[in-house]
Amino acid sequence: MTGSIFESEKIKEDFPLLEREVNGKPIVYLDSAATSQKPIEVIDRMTDYYKQINANVHRGAYHIAELATSEMEETRTKVSRFINASSEKEIVFTKNATEAINLVAYTWARTQLNEGDVILLSSLEHHSNIVPWQQLSSERNIEIRWIPITQDGQLDLSSMDELLADVKLLCVSAVSNALGTINPVKQLTDAAHQVGAICLVDACQSVPHFKTDVAELGADFLAFSGHKMCGPTGVGVLWGRLDLLEKMPPFLGGGEMILNVTSDGFTTNEVPWKFEAGTPPIAEIIGLGVAVSYLEKIGMEAIREHEQNLTSYALDLLNDRFGDDLIIHGPGAAVERSGVISFSYRDIHPHDISQVLDQYGVCVRAGHHCCKPLMALLGVNATARASLYIYNDESDIKVLADAINEVGKIFS
Ligand code: ALA
Repeated sequence: MTGSIFESEKIKEDFPLLEREVNGKPIVYLDSAATSQKPIEVIDRMTDYYKQINANVHRGAYHIAELATSEMEETRTKVSRFINASSEKEIVFTKNATEAINLVAYTWARTQLNEGDVILLSSLEHHSNIVPWQQLSSERNIEIRWIPITQDGQLDLSSMDELLADVKLLCVSAVSNALGTINPVKQLTDAAHQVGAICLVDACQSVPHFKTDVAELGADFLAFSGHKMCGPTGVGVLWGRLDLLEKMPPFLGGGEMILNVTSDGFTTNEVPWKFEAGTPPIAEIIGLGVAVSYLEKIGMEAIREHEQNLTSYALDLLNDRFGDDLIIHGPGAAVERSGVISFSYRDIHPHDISQVLDQYGVCVRAGHHCCKPLMALLGVNATARASLYIYNDESDIKVLADAINEVGKIFS
């Protein structure tokens, strides 16, 4: 990618996987909500790490160990700037967003929440922002309450005053991975703070696609994964307010998270290393830093604009071409959603849709999208989901529509 103008054709060239064919057809990758593809510079940098500076971090006083440590810590600084954190100490590296949420559940929540407290979840949450709270709820008799949704898959905030009574923790995704709904996070965090609650934002589907400012969102904790934002798998981020992180006990015990260990006990390291027990995913963290630079080079505003235009194009094309045969779940307007397009086509099972699309090189996810409570509200077991990113363009949407048409012919 060169220059600041959005050129998806040029961007595509940065992603080696997008050069391949699937079933004799050029690949059309429409599953970036599950994981994004990786630009060559991320892949090369990770390979270079292993070829040139592979050493453990924060331990060796020799040259390559210092290089590995400084490259890894540079990512912390980049990520901190990328989401407008107050300090790089607020950036904790985890395995993924799921681990980041579990870290909050096991440390902050298990020291702060007790019987009779309430955790408020949105009905759009991914299992990773549901199950850790259900586990805690069953241990402590903590109530879980749900923000309902409207028919078009937006949060229904009409009863927020009642919903917020006794709430100590609000957990909400910034963008629904299943429907693409953009949630009014700031409005929710403001309301939750009014009753003294802490707010955890699952930002897996927003950080890769929008400019993120943790201060503007009013979050207290924010979790996201590297692999959905052009980075590698195996690395995620927990951002937390420094004052909260400092008071929290460690998560896992082991090396790196200690200041001292004697036969009688241990003292903990400073934040954020207090939460990073064991050898971290060094190459992955370095790869994430390159991914952040890559996205910054394109520009987050440009990314959002491109995805919104492409989503609008896709919604129009699919609605015009398939009419009532194809139901697109979630908000009607592209401005209210990300590039996630979850659909049902006639009564054809989403797995069948996905298998036929694969014959045309089109990769979409079919299933419950780790959102079974939401699927129950929608009255479906599963949907087919196309999800867009920087390397997609109108030609990909046309191939998708043609392939859906073939699905219709096969199952007519
Ligand atoms: N949470 C990811 C998805 O929505 C895996 O597909």
